[in-house]
Amino acid sequence: MVRVGLVGLGFMGQQHLQIYQDMENVELVAVCDVIPERASEKAPSVGGNIGEAAELDLSAQARYLCFSEMLESEQLDLVDICTPTHLHAEMTVAALQAGNHVVCEKPMARTVSQCDEMIAAAQKTGNMLFIAQCIRFWPEYEVLAKMVADGELGEVKAARFIRQSPAPGWASEGWLLDPKLSGGALLDLHIHDVDFILSLFGTPNAVLSRGMNILADGAPVDHVDTQYLYDDFVCTAQAGWVNPDSFPFNMAFQVLGTGGLMEFSVGNDPMLRWYPFDGEPTTPEYEGGSGYENELAYFCKCVEDGTPPERVTPHSARESVRIATAEAQSIETREIVIIG
Ligand SMILES: NC(=O)c1ccc[n+]([C@@H]2O[C@H](COP(=O)([O-])OP(=O)(O)OC[C@H]3O[C@@H](n4cnc5c(N)ncnc54)[C@H](O)[C@@H]3O)[C@@H](O)[C@H]2O)c1
Repeated sequence: MVRVGLVGLGFMGQQHLQIYQDMENVELVAVCDVIPERASEKAPSVGGNIGEAAELDLSAQARYLCFSEMLESEQLDLVDICTPTHLHAEMTVAALQAGNHVVCEKPMARTVSQCDEMIAAAQKTGNMLFIAQCIRFWPEYEVLAKMVADGELGEVKAARFIRQSPAPGWASEGWLLDPKLSGGALLDLHIHDVDFILSLFGTPNAVLSRGMNILADGAPVDHVDTQYLYDDFVCTAQAGWVNPDSFPFNMAFQVLGTGGLMEFSVGNDPMLRWYPFDGEPTTPEYEGGSGYENELAYFCKCVEDGTPPERVTPHSARESVRIATAEAQSIETREIVIIG
């Protein structure tokens, strides 16, 4: 049994909580949130951009308002951090130093130097650190990654990724709309595609981004459009949370290779479709489930087995923050940013 303590019972924490409650190899021992209602026996659900969570039953868990008190009082194997992004680094370091393995929500941290602090603490303590880059575990994206790796797509020539969300009005104290805390849609939403693109194609030579600012004050990061400059194919990604509330959450990709085109959109039926140049369109067979379930099952098994995760290493999650930061720089300077 992996003994888990979960901090941050907002939108994402509630998703994780419900997954842990269904897992056979996990005992959710303790939960923590600064909002007393959220850390109460019957916690109200927090909606997000992928649908509502149900009301939570926390009667079986020790409930804390203070994170350091939870760390001091509980014997845990794994601490799960679902708090706002600007708190990831200090909470991760504290949990690692208190002797726990850590799963921390994406993006790894607000800045690259905070990512470095987290990596240093994991190395020093010898405890495992896993960043919840769920898209790498999302079934349709896994199908694409496997087809690219197996050469079924042929040589990739063009790739396009899209992520569109209603404005994140659910965030506690509006933290998501403050770019200093969240990095805006660029770091919070778009990081999913940045991370997946890097895992699929490696680090680009350069990025060219344009952004705009409608909801947030400050940096133009509500909406981003980036070209990733690779040697021999074109790759773009667009993400934004400046959409009418009535517009449903969308994530989508089209990847064209010499073998055919793979298309995915949550708005399509079927969502995933393979169009080969030399045959009829098909929908590949794959296991269902969500990336959230798959990533937590994967890392809890790593903890159970004492085996460091090979998928989403801390360095790779840091690289995603580094490239997103270069995109922010490109938006600001309006120039191509060369990636060293
Ligand atoms: N993987 C995904 O698809 C996905 C989706 C949404 C959010 N996220 C990530 O999850 C994290 C949380 O986002 P969210 O949308 O759930 O935000 P949220 O505002 O809904 O929830 C954050 C929770 O943390 C609590 N909190 C804040 N400071 C705290 C502290 N010091 N101690 C204890 N609790 C504290 C807040 O009270 C709140 O309940 C972010 O890093 C975000 O990027 C990931």
